[in-house]
Amino acid sequence: MLEIASKVIEEYSSKFESLPVLIYSPGRVNLIGEHTDYNDGFVLPAAIDKVIVVAIAKNNLNMIRACAVDMEEYQEVDLSKELNSKPGEWISYVKGVVSELQKKGYEPGGFDIAFGGDIPIGAGLSSSAALEGGLLKGLDTLFDLGLDGELMAKIGQLTEHNHVGVRCGIMDQFINIHGKDKYVLRLDCRTLEYEYFPFDRKDIRIVLCNSKVSHNLASSEYNVRRAQCEEGVQIIKEHNPFVENLRDVSLDLLYAHQREMDEVVFKRCKYVIEENQRVIDACLDLEKDDLVRFGLRMQESHKGLSEDYEVSCAELDTLVDIAKDLPGVLGCRMMGGGFGGCTINLVEKKHLDSFKDTVEAEYLEKTGIQTEIYITKLGDGVRVV
Ligand code: GLA
Repeated sequence: MLEIASKVIEEYSSKFESLPVLIYSPGRVNLIGEHTDYNDGFVLPAAIDKVIVVAIAKNNLNMIRACAVDMEEYQEVDLSKELNSKPGEWISYVKGVVSELQKKGYEPGGFDIAFGGDIPIGAGLSSSAALEGGLLKGLDTLFDLGLDGELMAKIGQLTEHNHVGVRCGIMDQFINIHGKDKYVLRLDCRTLEYEYFPFDRKDIRIVLCNSKVSHNLASSEYNVRRAQCEEGVQIIKEHNPFVENLRDVSLDLLYAHQREMDEVVFKRCKYVIEENQRVIDACLDLEKDDLVRFGLRMQESHKGLSEDYEVSCAELDTLVDIAKDLPGVLGCRMMGGGFGGCTINLVEKKHLDSFKDTVEAEYLEKTGIQTEIYITKLGDGVRVV
């Protein structure tokens, strides 16, 4: 059993008497396809072996008693009252999930919950989607709600929109549920159709470098990016009614309307259209087992995110600059929403030690910040253990 699981169970047992169900709910990486999900595009994420552990049982009290183990905090929520949530508080995720379930006509009763994990918070590995997914899996199991994976992902996403204040796409919640060990998943965020691609090269590792810049402040900028994409779509749609989303727009069509658009909106749209194509091409590279081409696309993705979409930051750019020409690095880029969090690097196993040493030393020298480096294994989606 994971060390963190023992800690969560211990904490649970010190507060509550019942025997809980135990759930592992993973964080995620995204190989390529950033900020494409809310534009109805493609993404290529995978679940990882870092998890939030949830211990949960019914309490027959019509209340939630919740314990955030890592934060050493405890809160109670009366389910007979309205579930008001304040963005920024961990309990908002719990209340949000329950409230979104209620809106869909499900009535989970009272429950006791303790959770904690080893997914670094604010590092762009989707600890919040892991909490939502873990809780949903727990409630589904306890109260026989009969939720399918797609609905669970949507409820997690609505929790972010309505209770956390981030108008996120569906990637993080979807992969938390559908992740499969040794595979990455290409998701079509329009139809929610998905396909698994094996990702199990013995000679290559997925390495994350934490900039240690917390991305928590990024939510407002995230929503601004989303609005800019929508603005671009509105302009193109005026003459092309079939266009519902950037997914429907080719680069040629975008250029045809460039003059009608603000320069910034144009850049945002251009990035999304190009990135979407990169995901499709990167999957062809995977089919050919061509990780060299794949890595080059990661580099292009970073350039677009940094220069056109402008969601990188000096620290992430520094990490990428240090890593990109090191021996054994096939590709690297910022990952997730941006403004901090981690870079994702594909590194040949035989060069791991020197990669780690060099990135740590140079990042410290250039920024004064000690990075944390995680050699990541892929893992399964949310599960009862
Ligand atoms: C965050 C959001 C996702 C996605 C990424 C960027 O992780 O939660 O929906 O938009 O940013 O790709």
